[in-house]
Amino acid sequence: MKHDNNLKVGSFFAGLGGICLAFKQAGFELAWSNEIDKAACKTYRANFDHLLIEGDICDLSPNDSRLKHVDVITGGFPCQAFSIAGYRKGFEDERGTLFFKMLAFIDKFKPKALFFENVRNLKSHNNGKTYAKIKSELEKRGYVVTERVLDTCEYSQLPQHRERFYIVCFKNKKKAQWFEEHGWPHKIDQKKRLAFDNIVDPVADDVHYFDRYPWYYNIAIKEVDDPKAFYQWRRVYCRKNKNGVCPTLTANMGGGGHNVPLVMDSKGLRRLTPQECLRLQGIDDKKFVFPEDVSMGARYKQVGNAVSVPVVRSIAKNILRILTEE
Ligand SMILES: C[S@@+](CC[C@H](N)C(=O)[O-])C[C@H]1O[C@@H](n2cnc3c(N)ncnc32)[C@H](O)[C@@H]1O
Repeated sequence: MKHDNNLKVGSFFAGLGGICLAFKQAGFELAWSNEIDKAACKTYRANFDHLLIEGDICDLSPNDSRLKHVDVITGGFPCQAFSIAGYRKGFEDERGTLFFKMLAFIDKFKPKALFFENVRNLKSHNNGKTYAKIKSELEKRGYVVTERVLDTCEYSQLPQHRERFYIVCFKNKKKAQWFEEHGWPHKIDQKKRLAFDNIVDPVADDVHYFDRYPWYYNIAIKEVDDPKAFYQWRRVYCRKNKNGVCPTLTANMGGGGHNVPLVMDSKGLRRLTPQECLRLQGIDDKKFVFPEDVSMGARYKQVGNAVSVPVVRSIAKNILRILTEE
C-alpha cells in the first residue's frame, strides 16, 4: 500500500488545534484553518505554522484566494446547541446552524473525505431529525456517510470518559465501505489505560487549590478521601469517578461550580491544571505551548473544547490509508 504524505487538510472551528494535531500526526499536511476566538487563535499560532484565518466562518468566502485546494475538510463544529448541558435548541440556536456554513466550502473544494466531531447528543437531538438533516445535506453532495459514538476511555489509553459523535464521509463508495468495516478504532484492553500518576502531578501551583474558598472546600472535603481518584464537583456534592477515569473535560471547568474534575493531593483539594487537562486529551504538554497572555480560563476552555487526539489520530490514519490506496 502506497502512502501519500501530501494529502492536504482544511480545518474549520479549529480551537487550539486538537483535530489538526491528530491529522498532522497521522501524516496529513495542514493547509489552512479558521477560528473566531482570539485567545484560541493565539494558542493555535504558538503551535502551528500554516495559515490560520482568524474570524467568523460567516465572513469567509469559499473563493478567498488564501484558501488553497484541500483533500479533506474537518470541523469540530460548536456543540453547545446540541449538548445535554446546553439548551438543546439545535438549529434554532445560531451555533447549531454553523455546520451548514461549511457546505459552501465543501461545494467549492469537493474534498475526497470529510471529518466532523460533536457531542454524543447530536445523534439523537430532536428525535434524530437534526442529524438526519446534516446527513442528507452531505449525501446530496455525493458523500457516503459513516458515523460512530466513541468513548475516549474505551478507544484509547486515556483515562477520560468522553463520549463523542464522529462522522467520516467519503466521495468514493468503496473507500467508505472499507472505512465502515475496518477504519473505526477498536476497543483497547482496559489494562493498558494510563494510570492516575501518568496524568496527575503530585502537587500544583497554589492558584489551583480550593482552600481559598472555605465554603467550597468544606462541602467537598467530606466526600473526597482517595488521593488516587478523579472526583467530579456537581454543584452541591462531589462524586468519585470509578475505575480511575476522569469525567469529561468541559469548556467551563476552569470556572468552578459545576462538573469540575477535582483531585486531592498532599497540599489539598484542587482542580486539574491545564497541563494535566492536555494530558487527558492526549496532547503532549511538554511540546504544546500556551502563550503567556492566554488567561487560565481561556486555557481550560480551549482544552475542554478540544478532542482526544489519539482517538482522532487513529481515525485520521485510516482515512489516509484508504485515500492513498490505489
Ligand atoms: C468545539 S470547539 C472545536 C475545537 C477543536 N475541534 C479542537 O480540537 O481543538 C468549536 C470552536 O468553534 C469556534 N467558533 C464558534 N463560532 C465560530 C464562528 N462563527 N466562526 C469560526 N469559529 C467559530 C469556537 O471559538 C471554538 O473554538
